[in-house]
Amino acid sequence: MGKSKRKFLLLPGDGIGPEVVREAKKIIEWFNKHKSLDFDVDQELIGGASIDKNKIPITDEVFYKSLECDAVVVGACGGPKWDNLEFSKKPERALLKLRKELKLFANLRPAICFKQLVDSSTLKPEVVTGLDIMIVRELTGGIYFGEPRGIEPIKNNERKGINTHTYTTTEIQRIAKTAFELAKKRKNKVTSCEKSNVMEAGVLWREEVQALKDKDFKDIELQHMLADNCAMQLLRNPKQFDVILADNLFGDMLSDEAAMLTGSLGLLPSASLGSRDKNGKMRSLYEPVHGSAPDIAGKNIANPIATILSLSMAFRYSLDLDKEADSLDQAVQLVLDEGLRTKDIISKGKKEVTTSQMGDAIISKLK
Ligand code: IPM
Ligand code: MG
Repeated sequence: MGKSKRKFLLLPGDGIGPEVVREAKKIIEWFNKHKSLDFDVDQELIGGASIDKNKIPITDEVFYKSLECDAVVVGACGGPKWDNLEFSKKPERALLKLRKELKLFANLRPAICFKQLVDSSTLKPEVVTGLDIMIVRELTGGIYFGEPRGIEPIKNNERKGINTHTYTTTEIQRIAKTAFELAKKRKNKVTSCEKSNVMEAGVLWREEVQALKDKDFKDIELQHMLADNCAMQLLRNPKQFDVILADNLFGDMLSDEAAMLTGSLGLLPSASLGSRDKNGKMRSLYEPVHGSAPDIAGKNIANPIATILSLSMAFRYSLDLDKEADSLDQAVQLVLDEGLRTKDIISKGKKEVTTSQMGDAIISKLK
């Protein structure tokens, strides 16, 4: 490529994280070897794994590495072993710190129902066949980060738990812009979700999204929907949606729901993106939506596809490697065509494979 070496930082984390990230790493190595890309691949501890060794969910050293690389790939953070830790010391704080400090305000979570897996969904085939939704979740604001927060003693020996939900015009409009721009490359439709019937911040959300559309995105079809209604509509008729725009908390919930429409959480990738700086560089982090799944960790049965598709998103959004991303997406399709399935998506007549066999099979289809 003639450019300076580009860097991946892999942060496998906890639970099934190490197993699924291992498959992504094999794929990066394949591209290095066969496509004369020369990615540098570095790997570090995060989450519970970092707590066990360093007593904190992410060290400064790892944090600074994440600032310097071209794309971060995370496996998962958290597990029962660390459940009783004080809030600020929990494994998940590592992820939240990375999102916040790298200013990764835009979380893209595509929910696509692959034709080969229509039967894995708990919904009827006609409801999910051809499903292709992009959830755009705000990731650095709202109730996840608002102040004041905490648990306080109050009178009569009771306690009060406090979290604060805030959004500013800038925060709302920059994520709405991401949603509108993505919609332009898709079916041109955005459904923006809030609870403007009960929350002032929801009223502001609705008004600012509408204002940006009226100003800069006149051709987009914009629909406002209450978030609870959206949750219901996702089950009733998910194919009505193109891009769903939501705040941090509603986006968290709606994306888990949308994920299950596709058959398994094991298939859903995500990209978390910041703005471009003066030099055109954009901070980014890629991770499967599924989480650490401690119940199946270490058994070599987890589905690596969500992580592999997250890597493909990294090729596309951070590294300008559209061709490579296409070939990786296609390799996943070919393997599914052949009937190979991990345990989470197995059905009658298909061949069950392990995590590493699934990774190898996908590699064998790369061109
Ligand atoms: C997600 C997860 C995280 C979140 C947790 C692990 C902090 O559920 O990425 O959807 O709530 O954002
Ligand atoms: Mg979640």
